[in-house]
Amino acid sequence: MKQTTISIVKSTVPVLEQHGQAITTRFYEMLFEQYPSLKNVFNQTNQKTGRQQMALANTVYAAAQYIDRLETLLPVVKQIAHKHRSIGVKAEHYPIVGEFLLKAIKDVLKEAATDEIMEAWKEAYGAIADVFISVEQELYEEAEEKGWKDYKKLMVHKKVIEAEDVYSFYLVSPDQKALPAFLPGQYVSVRIPGQEYLSIRQYSLSGYPNQPYYKITVKKEKQMEDGVVSTYLHDQLKEGDLLEVSVPAGDFVLKENSKSVFISGGVGITPMMSMLHQALENNQEVTFIHSAKNEQFHAMKQELQLLSETYKFEQHVFYSQAQTDQHDEHITYGRLTKKELAKYAGDKHAYYYVCGSSSFTQMVLEGLAEMGISQENIMYESFGPKMSMTPS
Ligand code: HEM
Repeated sequence: MKQTTISIVKSTVPVLEQHGQAITTRFYEMLFEQYPSLKNVFNQTNQKTGRQQMALANTVYAAAQYIDRLETLLPVVKQIAHKHRSIGVKAEHYPIVGEFLLKAIKDVLKEAATDEIMEAWKEAYGAIADVFISVEQELYEEAEEKGWKDYKKLMVHKKVIEAEDVYSFYLVSPDQKALPAFLPGQYVSVRIPGQEYLSIRQYSLSGYPNQPYYKITVKKEKQMEDGVVSTYLHDQLKEGDLLEVSVPAGDFVLKENSKSVFISGGVGITPMMSMLHQALENNQEVTFIHSAKNEQFHAMKQELQLLSETYKFEQHVFYSQAQTDQHDEHITYGRLTKKELAKYAGDKHAYYYVCGSSSFTQMVLEGLAEMGISQENIMYESFGPKMSMTPS
C-alpha cells in the first residue's frame, strides 16, 4: 500500500469514528435492504438493541490504525474469525459488507469524503478483509476436517434443569458418528428457525471433552428481545428433537501452566467447568472463584461438588443476595468485589480465566491489573461483543 494511502486512511479514522453511529446505522439499513437474506446471519436482537452492530464498523476503523502492520492484529483477528467461522460468515460476504460500508461512509460524510479518501478506504478495507478471509479459510478447513463445514443437525439426547432458568442440553450425532473433539473453553453456534429468519447464538460447551455428546448450558434471557433463542431452547426444544450446531470454535481455551485461576460470574461458569475439569486432570493447581445471585441461581453446583470430592482445589463462591445464615466454608454471602478478589487471587505466575457479563469482566480485569498481573496471563470472554482491535 502506498504511503499516501496509509496516511489518508490513518488521518481520517477519527472522522469516521466521530460519525460512527450514523455510518453504522446507514450501513445496516442499506445492507439488509439489498441483501435481506443476511438477516439469517446477523443477530437481529443485536440490531434492535444496537448493542453489537457498532462492532463491525468500529473494528474496521480500529484496524485501519494498524493498516501498515496488520500482522500485529492477528491475535484479535483470530478471536473474531473463530466467531465468524462458527456463524458461517463466508469470503463472498466481505465484498458485500465492504461495498455498503463504503457507501455508508460516502452517504454520511458527503463531499468531505473525496474520491481520494474513498479510494484509500476501499484499499484499506480490502487489505483488512483479506486478513480475515485467510484466517477464516484455515478455520473452515480445520472444521471440515474434524466434522462438518457449517451446521449439522444434532439430536437432543437429554435436557436437564441446572438452576433457576438454566437448562443443560446433551447433544448427540443422530448418525452415531463421533463428534469432533473440542478444547475446554470453546463454544458452538446454534441456529434455530424463526418466523421470518434464522437466529444464531453462541453457547459455551459446558461438558468435558472426549464424551459422546456436546453439552451446552443455557440461561433463559428474560427480555423477549434478548431471549429468542434461549426461550425456544427452554420452552420448545424437547428430548429427541434436532438442533443445528456448528463445529466448536473459540480461542478462550485452557493453556498449559502449573496454576490456573478461574473467575466467573453467573452463567459465565459454563466454559469454566470443562476448563476446570481439564486443569485438574492435568494436575494443575487450581483456584475457582464464582459469583452467583444466590444458591438457586448457582448453575452446575452439583458438578462442582462432585469435582471437589474427587480433586483438591481451592473454591470460593460468592452469593451476592444473601438469603441464609447457613454456614459453608466455600461460600461468602456478599458481592465479589476487587477487595474480596485480592484475597484469593494475585499469584503473578498463574493464568487467569475470566468469564461473565461485561460489567463483571471489567471489574475483575481492573482488579487483576491493580494486583499487577500481566495482561499476558489473563484470558477473558464476556457476554457482550469485544469491540476493540487494539493489541495489548
Ligand atoms: C461479529 C468484525 C466482516 C458478520 C463481529 C465482531 C466483530 C466483527 C468485532 C464481534 C465479535 C464478538 O462478538 O466478539 C468484523 C470486521 C469485518 C467483518 C472487522 C470486516 C473486515 C463481517 C462479514 C460478515 C460479518 C463480511 C457477514 C456478512 C458478523 C456476524 C457477527 C459478527 C453475524 C456476530 C454478531 C451479530 O450477529 O450481531 N464482526 N466483521 N462480519 N460479524 Fe463481523
